[in-house]
Amino acid sequence: MRIVILENAQAVAEFGANHIVSLLNKQPNSVLGLATGTTPIKLYKELIAANKNGHVTFKNVTTFNLDEYLGLAGTHPQSYRYFMNEQLFDHVDINKENTFVPDGSAAIPTAACEEFENNIQEKGGIDLQLLGIGRNGHIGFNEPSSSLSSRTRVKTLTEDTVNANKHFFTEGEVQPTLSLTMGIGTINEAREILLLATGSDKAEAIKNTIEGPIAARCPGSILQMHQHVTVVIDKEAASSLEDIAFYQHIERENKRLKEGTAL
Ligand code: PGA
Repeated sequence: MRIVILENAQAVAEFGANHIVSLLNKQPNSVLGLATGTTPIKLYKELIAANKNGHVTFKNVTTFNLDEYLGLAGTHPQSYRYFMNEQLFDHVDINKENTFVPDGSAAIPTAACEEFENNIQEKGGIDLQLLGIGRNGHIGFNEPSSSLSSRTRVKTLTEDTVNANKHFFTEGEVQPTLSLTMGIGTINEAREILLLATGSDKAEAIKNTIEGPIAARCPGSILQMHQHVTVVIDKEAASSLEDIAFYQHIERENKRLKEGTAL
């Protein structure tokens, strides 16, 4: 795992956006896995700016979102399809036909999950999966106890997740308690993973993800098995890590190697 610790949430967003922009400039037809939630909003703003400034194009990009609320159609303002349109897709030159979000209004959710998995396969798999992380260590809506080899399916949300997302819903609006989510096995098949986390309420989840045992208790910990993961966090999210000094040392050494001054 590459662990990058930065000053604040804005620096995390800029690092993440630059990483995605360089990938798209190298491989303009990339398949991106995208995430919703508060964390990626700043990153999406950076991507929109880069697109408007002509630094990147999404014309040939395909996207797959991690999850969706079961019971919400894409036209519902709290659906993740709606979120993605508002936060990114409506503001960049992407072809919306190439943007996939699990269908929360599907009559047969299991069939929608299977179709979603098939679509990922048909597009050649995900090149880079962007992830946030829940306070309880969930990735996508894979809550603690999720099978570490799970595929896209219906998942029950924990009370903590429902509470964490409450602020997105207006009073009186029904908040779903079920979701469709890419599985942990599906996520871990992406060729590269970029996980962002900011703020002290993510510190424990980040500690368990990076330094804990690999366990279904903390779904993020499965990323220790992946060959190409970059975890980008601010100081607050890093605050419970035991080996911060070592992670920072690695970053400095890698910089020296890149500059050719290490040997
Ligand atoms: P957040 O959610 O970015 O809103 O904190 C992350 C997540 O639950 O995966």
